[in-house]
Amino acid sequence: MNIRALLSEKVAAAMAAAGIPAEFGPNLALSKNPQFGDYQANGAMAAAKAMKSNPRQIADSIIQHLDLTGLADKVEIAGPGFINIYLSSAWLAGISEEISTDAHLTVQAAEPAQTIVIDYSAPNLAKEMHVGHLRSTIIGDAMARLSEFLGHRVVRQNHIGDWGTQFGMLIAELEETLSETSQSFQLKDLESFYQQAKKHFDEDPAFADKAREYVVRLQRGDEGVYALWQQFIQLSLAHSEELYERLNVSLSREDVRGESYYNDQLASTVADLEAKGLVVEDQGAKVAFLEEFADKDGKPGAYIVQKQGGGFLYATTDLAAMQFRIQTLKADRILIFTDARQGLHFKQLFTLSRKAGYAPDAVELVHCAFGMMMGADGKPFKTRSGGTVKLAELVDEAIERSEKLVAEKNPELDAEQQQEVARKVAIGAVKYADLSKTRTNDYVFNWDAMLSFEGNTAPYLQYAYTRIQSIFRKAGESDAYLRAAIVLEHEQERALALKLAQFEEVLLQVYREAMPHSLCAYLYDLAGLTMSFYENCAILKEGVDPAVRDSRLRLSHGVASTLRCGLDLLGIEVMERM
Ligand code: ARG
Repeated sequence: MNIRALLSEKVAAAMAAAGIPAEFGPNLALSKNPQFGDYQANGAMAAAKAMKSNPRQIADSIIQHLDLTGLADKVEIAGPGFINIYLSSAWLAGISEEISTDAHLTVQAAEPAQTIVIDYSAPNLAKEMHVGHLRSTIIGDAMARLSEFLGHRVVRQNHIGDWGTQFGMLIAELEETLSETSQSFQLKDLESFYQQAKKHFDEDPAFADKAREYVVRLQRGDEGVYALWQQFIQLSLAHSEELYERLNVSLSREDVRGESYYNDQLASTVADLEAKGLVVEDQGAKVAFLEEFADKDGKPGAYIVQKQGGGFLYATTDLAAMQFRIQTLKADRILIFTDARQGLHFKQLFTLSRKAGYAPDAVELVHCAFGMMMGADGKPFKTRSGGTVKLAELVDEAIERSEKLVAEKNPELDAEQQQEVARKVAIGAVKYADLSKTRTNDYVFNWDAMLSFEGNTAPYLQYAYTRIQSIFRKAGESDAYLRAAIVLEHEQERALALKLAQFEEVLLQVYREAMPHSLCAYLYDLAGLTMSFYENCAILKEGVDPAVRDSRLRLSHGVASTLRCGLDLLGIEVMERM
């Protein structure tokens, strides 16, 4: 159910009938205050201004033609020409009945469905994943799940950093380690392995020569070196995959398409750009000079696509990936999740891709930038000794902390149940803390805040869900209430039903803006309204009319399904008790 779209359509029809040119839209918004109805159509003002007419009169003529029979009880003009719409409670009740029994919560499949390529996580395999990759992984995954739920065709692309000169050093190191440890080597700690290789490289000229030679041989496709490289990639990728598994992230091996994949397309891409006159030679390098990025003196921005000496770069790979995603994957929309510091790179990439014809205007390109993760001290998140935080250790700590909390709060659960709950709370808390903040801002990592059972947190939402489940357990086995009529008598019931009916609207907004925090805010509101509904509307108390009881149970059922679905789209699990 998309109330906003439905009302927009009705108001637009009324505007047309009132003789208002089609360029003026209904401009529908949620009312900020129930005093002004549930929705407002604010299009009369702009239309009146352009038509040099009185906005209240225009609003009045719109209302004359507006047919909201069955949908709204009251429509009125307020202020300079707002049209306030008061939805009918009976209509809302009908929608919440539908939501309570529909597996897809009345959310329509997108029409037409888009092919959306989502580039996220993308760790660099030479080193341990860092917190920036954590943000990319969590936010990108939520967008992938949500887009799929809306019926779009989602192509996940894990654009891992698996290519470049540092791999020569790493595979040379791997080769030596393997010969010492008789093949049973496990890459336990990527970071220290990298340090070890680097030290080796800096201190041993023979080793450094070998590392350089391996780079050349790797790029030439030498079989032995290639096999060694592959082995390194597998070992390193296994680290990320372990983390995906623990974090309940939906990326799999099939989604991996790393930088190496584009190796064969780099030279031809540069040649193509040169032939199109978009790239010229400059001091031995190949550069696209983009006037769109000119500095204040008018000097165009330089986007290097091939280094002096012939090496290719991150930019070249992304140009090749752009072509692949549009030509082969048939993307209608491409979302790339990285931290904001890569903003200029992607702006330039998109501009050059448009100019080169790699990305037609119809394909939407979005760099979904996010801010940095900060420590309590307001500086970039680091370990106490100033090192990068290992994500596996971060997850361990989350689980440890949450186990303590759950043991305190839920002593009645057995050890196994406690563990399960603690795991879901921990992972949920880490993810939700990230997802609930405006993506583009920096955010402060704070254990106590994210694990709190109060406020806009995962544990609070998970708790709200279990509270509904406990009511169902008390109510007994029968689900006959699912056939009961929902009646919205109390203010709290009506507010809750209205919120429920807005789920699709919010999902569409998140899809459009790639801003999952709007879904978090929605779920938080939904949980809050549920709590006040329970405070004000008795369900299982003695003396409650059975019809009222069943209506409230059915409404609760819709809420539980919506909470569960919403959290699932964020990659967060619920539990029956906690
Ligand atoms: N591996 C890169 C990094 O860690 C992120 C890659 C993002 N995707 C892309 N197509 N450039 O910064």
